[in-house]
Amino acid sequence: MYYPEELVEEVRLKNDIVDVISGYVKLQKKGSSHFGLCPFHNEKSPSFSVSRGKQMYYCFGCGAGGNVFTFLMEYENYSFQEALKVLADRAGVELPKLEYSKEAKEKAELKTILLEVNKLAAKYFYVQLKSEQGRAAYTYLKDRKLSDETITAFGLGYSNKYSDDLYRYLKTKGYTDEVLLKAGLISADERHGAYDKFWNRVMFPIMDANNRVIGFGGRVMGDGKPKYLNSPETPVFDKSRNLYGLHRARISRKPYFLICEGYMDVIALHQAGFTNAVASLGTALTEGHAALIKRYVNQVYLTYDSDDAGTRAALRAIPILKSMGITAKVIRMDPYKDPDEFIKNLGAEAFEERIHKAGNGFLFSLKILEQDYDMASPEGRTGFLRAAAGRLAEFEEEIERSNYIEAVAKAYRVNVEELRKLVVKTALQSGMAKPVTRPKATVNKERRKEDGALKSQRILLTWLIEDENIFRQIAGVIGPEDFTEPLYHTVAELLYRQQEEGTMNPAQIMNRFTDEEEHRRVAELFHTRLPEISTAQEKEKALKETVVRIKQNSLDEASKSLDATDMEGLQRLMEGKRALQDMKELHISIN
Ligand code: GTP
Ligand code: MN
Repeated sequence: MYYPEELVEEVRLKNDIVDVISGYVKLQKKGSSHFGLCPFHNEKSPSFSVSRGKQMYYCFGCGAGGNVFTFLMEYENYSFQEALKVLADRAGVELPKLEYSKEAKEKAELKTILLEVNKLAAKYFYVQLKSEQGRAAYTYLKDRKLSDETITAFGLGYSNKYSDDLYRYLKTKGYTDEVLLKAGLISADERHGAYDKFWNRVMFPIMDANNRVIGFGGRVMGDGKPKYLNSPETPVFDKSRNLYGLHRARISRKPYFLICEGYMDVIALHQAGFTNAVASLGTALTEGHAALIKRYVNQVYLTYDSDDAGTRAALRAIPILKSMGITAKVIRMDPYKDPDEFIKNLGAEAFEERIHKAGNGFLFSLKILEQDYDMASPEGRTGFLRAAAGRLAEFEEEIERSNYIEAVAKAYRVNVEELRKLVVKTALQSGMAKPVTRPKATVNKERRKEDGALKSQRILLTWLIEDENIFRQIAGVIGPEDFTEPLYHTVAELLYRQQEEGTMNPAQIMNRFTDEEEHRRVAELFHTRLPEISTAQEKEKALKETVVRIKQNSLDEASKSLDATDMEGLQRLMEGKRALQDMKELHISIN
């Protein structure tokens, strides 16, 4: 943390959250909260609420939430420090200059410089494209059916034939070789000195969600290799946390994204009116991408290439998306290779139809599984159904599993009840006969168990800030030490301390976390989606289960790390176990 806590808190207090957000979202007072249309996802009726009392916001639709800093970080894609600066200016609070550590300051400065260089390079490429030297590149783009409007909207450009003209241009602007190397725009070796990384290529500047140029992709005009050359990762270019086209897709106000493979696919889709298309940056879809997507939408349509590689990529992406709570459907492109070619040949309306006909991701993966079996023979079909039952058994939630069993039964014309029995049998078998499970699946199970424990901790923290009454009831039972995840533990300690002092103030706690990733995680923590509960009785039950789960996990963790000779520790563990027993009898009342 670079600024003293009190100063950060002062800035927060002087920027009333309702006033700040009103500058972005039209809010209306309803009861103790203000409501408006959520700027983070598409909706027709307002589920975005801002509380003046708590100085927090929360969207009941998409789960976005946080304090006034979080809002600017999410909306403007600012870092914590940037949000702080803007809000300090707004409130006329002067921030001292010296609090940055030297290292942090240098890092921030380098980032600013790299973004500046990238922007200049993008402009340079754009000018080249529009000039005489760029005629071939311009023609190439025109032949690929891009309009001038599209070319401008995506800032496409051309790196011309000389191998060092960008280098020389940027040198005249005063940048050092070191900076240009760090920007990934030049390479250098002893024999040739410094030279441009990109030459004689059509250039695709890559923008982050906030329209800043963070890197480039360059395509040969023809059949040369490599077809695409991409910027290396740099301090401003993290390929697993950015998506091509996101700066426009995020404001498309559609409830889903179209995810494709190539830059050209994104551009062709946008040109055809599908402004919610994005692509990963020449890499497979990662959890980082899924987390990024989740900030905007809960649903995606995969429009990957129709070849084997595209199919494999879709199969890999589906579980990653699912683990982040994003449902995936798969759009078929056949008989064309990719969305770009599809649209060029059949047009936007036909693509729209494919969106409507898109198949569920799970059923798509079964379709691919079919290829391993001779579906025309009874043995083949049986083998396939057994394998499918195995996959169905992996759905943990009963309702979901049941829905999929019905869908599969319908799709493959088998009796639902028989399939259900097969799934149960498979689940039992794989539970007892371990060798059936692949190593990867067990890793997933481990993780799921861990996720369950963490989720309980998140849920309880959310409940605790919502209802101080709950706090009093569990105070003797669950302490900060029972929150085993380090970040949650820190938050719990702060929250318990505030509670003791009688000043519950989660918005203030959030100030403590100035690292963007941590800040977002804490914001999520306070706004964990709670189980759907209608009656007080149900809530009591859920709360008790949560408390028991947290204690159980905390005991498990403690016994894992317990040294056999640590008698005191053992004693504590035994007490804990007794407390857990008592807890099962505990009555928590909600009013
Ligand atoms: P076009 O042939 O221009 O239509 O390309 P495309 O948009 O259909 O892309 P393709 O499906 O061939 O590749 C998808 C993505 O993978 C591209 O947008 C690039 O990000 C990346 N990619 C493709 N070829 C290469 C390559 O040769 N090297 C690297 N590093 N990345 C590539
Ligand atoms: Mn293509």
